[in-house]
Amino acid sequence: MSKNWNTNNIPFQNEKVFLITGANSGLGFGTTLELAKKGAEIIMAVRNLEKGREAVNKIKSEVPNAKLDLMQLDLGDLNSIKEFSEKFKSKYSKLHVLINNAGVMMPVSKQITKQGFELQFGTNHIGHFTLTKYLFPVLNQTLDARIVTLSSLVAKMDKADIYWNDLQWDKSYDKMASYAQSKLSNMMFGMELSKLLKENNSHVKSILAHPGYTATNLQKHMGVQGIVMNFLLAQKVKMGILPSLRAATDPNAKCGEYYGPEKMGNWRGYPVLNEINPDADKRDLTQKLWLKTEELSGVKFEWN
Ligand SMILES: NC(=O)c1ccc[n+]([C@@H]2O[C@H](COP(=O)([O-])OP(=O)(O)OC[C@H]3O[C@@H](n4cnc5c(N)ncnc54)[C@H](OP(=O)(O)O)[C@@H]3O)[C@@H](O)[C@H]2O)c1
Repeated sequence: MSKNWNTNNIPFQNEKVFLITGANSGLGFGTTLELAKKGAEIIMAVRNLEKGREAVNKIKSEVPNAKLDLMQLDLGDLNSIKEFSEKFKSKYSKLHVLINNAGVMMPVSKQITKQGFELQFGTNHIGHFTLTKYLFPVLNQTLDARIVTLSSLVAKMDKADIYWNDLQWDKSYDKMASYAQSKLSNMMFGMELSKLLKENNSHVKSILAHPGYTATNLQKHMGVQGIVMNFLLAQKVKMGILPSLRAATDPNAKCGEYYGPEKMGNWRGYPVLNEINPDADKRDLTQKLWLKTEELSGVKFEWN
């Protein structure tokens, strides 16, 4: 086996149930395809069922026996998340891996979710926080379960901060800073969750991942700059998915770890342990964000 962790390292996933948000596009699609090849049963949670059906057909053309279940989920609507979770729980009694993958990046002007949160913070962070809360009882009753949350290189950039004075970007909108806030929130959530799980004696692991820089539909709001950057700098989806896959399947991955590419300042390469933003390890900050997110989403985790 190669010294670089790759899809050959993924054990057969027969009998395991995965739920992947944003499974119709980019990294979510690539992750679904690889896991399908390994025999996993995958719930593809997608916002748009038509796009979802196209993705299912593509995967089935490569993996005819793929075990896929397409379900509609809008992470920008708390009611949709609740409805989705209730439907999921009526169908499934096990969930081995939840991959909090879906995301939106840098809309040119400020947009809001159904409940009025800034779109990126609302979808990427509040949406996944709420989904994880609803699905936690199923994960907690499944042997060897994990929650994988996707963060980003931008969670360590200078602008990455929680902008407490204007969390929803009402006073001014900075598309880069607001995306960075949402991805730092993903990281702080994953880290705080890893600690709470241990403190509450849950066997469930919270593991973080990021894909470096990978050409997907995420860059669609970046115009020409996105096209040029994708051409010159981005790695391909088959590389970008490796950190998520490692976090989701490596038997040696531990609660509280963060996987990302090894090379070029973690922009590219095979997945290894990466360093988090030190703020994501500061309990006062992660607890403050946790409490605020409970307040905004109206949901509270229960550990038993
Ligand atoms: N690509 C990179 O270089 C990069 C770098 C760092 C982190 N990431 C993270 O990787 C994750 C996946 O992104 P990607 O690069 O694969 O981008 P992508 O190709 O644009 O895929 C994003 C997925 O999220 C879905 N989504 C967006 N809003 C949603 C909502 N309200 N409810 C449900 N699903 C929603 C999209 O659905 P539609 O198809 O319907 O829009 C799509 O399936 C994101 O969390 C992103 O922040 C990516």
